[in-house]
Amino acid sequence: MKHYLQFTDLTAQEYAYLFSRAAFIKHKFKAYEKHHTLVDRTLAMIFEKASTRTRVSFEAGMYQLGGSVVHLTTGDSQLGRAEPIEDSAKVISRMVDLVMIRTYGQDKINSFAANSRVPVINGLTNDFHPCQILADLFTFIEQRGDVKQPLECLKGKVVAWVGDGNNMANTWLQAADLLGFTVHVSTPSGYEIDTAVAGLATHNCFKVFQDPMQACEGADLVTTDVWTSMGYEAENEARKQAFADWCVDSEMMAVAKPNALFMHCLPAHRGEEVTAEVIDGAQSVVWDEAENRMHVQKALMEYLLLGQL
Ligand code: CP
Ligand code: NVA
Repeated sequence: MKHYLQFTDLTAQEYAYLFSRAAFIKHKFKAYEKHHTLVDRTLAMIFEKASTRTRVSFEAGMYQLGGSVVHLTTGDSQLGRAEPIEDSAKVISRMVDLVMIRTYGQDKINSFAANSRVPVINGLTNDFHPCQILADLFTFIEQRGDVKQPLECLKGKVVAWVGDGNNMANTWLQAADLLGFTVHVSTPSGYEIDTAVAGLATHNCFKVFQDPMQACEGADLVTTDVWTSMGYEAENEARKQAFADWCVDSEMMAVAKPNALFMHCLPAHRGEEVTAEVIDGAQSVVWDEAENRMHVQKALMEYLLLGQL
């Protein structure tokens, strides 16, 4: 049994399969063809933080595979009344086939997985957001590569990360290390990446720049995220001041490659981490990126339950 708790839980070969499979599944969806590979299977979705995309993409995706979902939040389950995570895992995993969790500490999802009889998927923790990077890479491959050789177009590319050294940044680092591209990271001082969290095999997969403009120079993809992630709201005012120069604007996009893409996992704050001109402009692929969450996660859920088909 495999869990998907961080990006490094799958190999490059498994990613190659998932990207090709996601393209096949998306093609069938667009052609209104049924794709019922998970009939009678149930996914439990546990949310301890808010969500729009993760909720809708997993729920709609599971229905499209012929399965069904159970939706739980901290507030409306015993999770919010201090039932141990280990007990919750033992009970829930006797009743469903697959579990997706969005929570705070990585230790919490790790404990759930250690006590689960069924595969567990990370739908975002403070440390990682692997399903989002799965969708982002698939989107890049769709735009710039070939789904028949999905990993080829990633090799040697430069991704500029402008902003917080957060869950998304950590996951980009893991993906770069595994799949052979480089992340140019620029964060304000005090909000740097912590390479121990990503547990990198090598340190060749990223370069740190103080100036976000320099990070964007020659990049194939420029990406950012909110200045204040969920769970860090108390730091909002301090972060607004610290991050003021880390707004992706047209000047930053102008120093990237002429065909560079812009991505943002969403939700976005126009005028903070990105200008409206960039996120709503021609280089932005944020709506494809959001839709692709659903297609890659369908491929992932199938893979965790059925293996390669
Ligand atoms: N990108 C993402 O995970 O969005 P939600 O917080 O809306 O799920
Ligand atoms: N870094 C953000 C991503 C939201 C999808 C957060 O954790 O809130």
